[in-house]
Amino acid sequence: MARPHIEPFCDRDTSFKSMVLPGFSRGMSYKMLSLDVDTGACSMTVQLDAGYIQPPGFSWTEREIIVIEGELAIGDRTCRKGHYFFIPAGYAMPSVSSEQGCLILVMYNTAEPSHEEATEHHALAQVDLYHDVDSYMDIPWAMGNVAKPSVASGCLIKLLNFNPQSQAMTFLYCMTPGFYQDNISYHDCAEESYHLWGTSWMMQFGEVPTGGYFWRPAYINHGAFASEYGCIALGRVDSKLFNHFHYNPWTTPVENADRSQARLYNRDPLLYRWAFSTDHNHPHSPEDFETTMSRRGEEGGHDNEHKSDGHRHDHWHGHHHHEKDSHHNHGDHDHS
Ligand SMILES: [Fe+2]
Repeated sequence: MARPHIEPFCDRDTSFKSMVLPGFSRGMSYKMLSLDVDTGACSMTVQLDAGYIQPPGFSWTEREIIVIEGELAIGDRTCRKGHYFFIPAGYAMPSVSSEQGCLILVMYNTAEPSHEEATEHHALAQVDLYHDVDSYMDIPWAMGNVAKPSVASGCLIKLLNFNPQSQAMTFLYCMTPGFYQDNISYHDCAEESYHLWGTSWMMQFGEVPTGGYFWRPAYINHGAFASEYGCIALGRVDSKLFNHFHYNPWTTPVENADRSQARLYNRDPLLYRWAFSTDHNHPHSPEDFETTMSRRGEEGGHDNEHKSDGHRHDHWHGHHHHEKDSHHNHGDHDHS
């Protein structure tokens, strides 16, 4: 899922385009939210016109759909806003139609959009993975602390899909009115969100209104957060969600990734050794900026640096500490 960082973005600021790919019925239009140009995987806001009918069939890609507004008929079953579908590749759906028209969010996870008319599943379809649910009516809100350390209380979730191998998740989340969280977070996974209703605010990207969307690759700072009147959104992560929290708004994605690596080194040193130290036994861990950054402003002697690895470097002379080869040239100063 190598999609570029898209944020801030709101689908209300763009117009619909007609879907003209072979296999798709007329009366379907879309707004592209994010696209992986290598695989064709994408997320789209889709408008189905009144009277739209898609004959039974399957897609060559895994899909997820949630109804945003209006009614969507699956065969003779009527699905209303908040109805969520997880549809494996090759899984044949009944006819899909909308008498009055509807707005849906469609995510093609593994390849470009496709529709193959069929009344039977493809022989290789993982049919057991299919599920759908009225997420607004039939799932209760749960505390947002599925991941620990966790978001502030007042951010609630409904888990919609979980991949036990990658730990990728799809979920609804809501921020209650008056919600705020004062720290900054980043993750080791990509994160996607579509605001079904309401507005939230982020320090880096401003207001995310109804129709607001982001695809955010790993290690990008986001937060603090707030929502004055509350919001409800569909969220996804493409692998295990871990909240790396901190309070330094200036760190770069590379520094954030280094910090993740440092935390792995401290928590699982043997795993770290296998994963990263393939060439030589390096005496220092990667840098966790939170343990080395200056907290009291400029200190001439800068003796608050280089403590994360247990090696205190007291050097009272001026030079740059973070040059590529500086870790290997320690002969010119004292290690106390
Ligand atoms: Fe996040």
